[in-house]
Amino acid sequence: MVEGEDPGVQLAGGPAEPHAPGGVGEQPEHRRGDVARVRGGAGVEVDGPLHRRAFAQAGDGEVRPVVGDMAQSGLPSQSFDLVWSEGALYNIGIENALRLCHGLLRPGGYLAFTDAVWRRENAPPEVKASFDLDYPTMGKIPDVLATIDRTGFSLVGHFTLPDEAWWDDFYTPMEQRIAELRAKHAADAEALAVLDRLAQEPEMHRRHSDYYAYEFFVARRPT
Ligand SMILES: C[S@@+](CC[C@H](N)C(=O)[O-])C[C@H]1O[C@@H](n2cnc3c(N)ncnc32)[C@H](O)[C@@H]1O
Repeated sequence: MVEGEDPGVQLAGGPAEPHAPGGVGEQPEHRRGDVARVRGGAGVEVDGPLHRRAFAQAGDGEVRPVVGDMAQSGLPSQSFDLVWSEGALYNIGIENALRLCHGLLRPGGYLAFTDAVWRRENAPPEVKASFDLDYPTMGKIPDVLATIDRTGFSLVGHFTLPDEAWWDDFYTPMEQRIAELRAKHAADAEALAVLDRLAQEPEMHRRHSDYYAYEFFVARRPT
């Protein structure tokens, strides 16, 4: 299945024989190198060139990148032992995505995915507005658990990703890059306005991260 110390990997049965993993909406250069170090799998991602390069590096050419829509991946049904997808399933609706992943997995196969969830009621207007744009149907943990159940999976476990997961590989380098670009384009009002808009997201997270989080779920297609 996959190698590594990652808590998601441990929930999905721990390091095991590399065999038939699939990823949807995955750009493996971002994270989860553990999943990329596998054999005989496939990854589906709409951002083709990035994905192709990353898998070529991480999977020694043994992982097959597929550029396309995860909703119509063309991957054979019941052909994967593990489907891994971080922060991407919501793009096609979480229930729809879970049904699709269920169909890709062999009986007994695992689905490991993250989904953004509300952690508190009455989010401030800026947080509400941001998620209304990006993920208007975002639910709470019990909503996702109910969807896991409804789509024929049994839950293995779940945990909330720590705040470092937002900062270490994402917002910290993003803010550094924004600072560099602000200096480079200091005379370009249009560029500065774009950078100001981009800077709002980490800033919002700094102020209001207690209202939302990424939850990591591992579920299993019953044998
Ligand atoms: C929030 S990003 C997460 C990327 C990566 N999994 C990570 O954790 O860094 C969502 C990803 O889903 C991909 N995506 C969106 N809709 C998709 C679709 N219909 N099929 C495949 N990938 C999709 C996007 O291109 C993007 O890379």
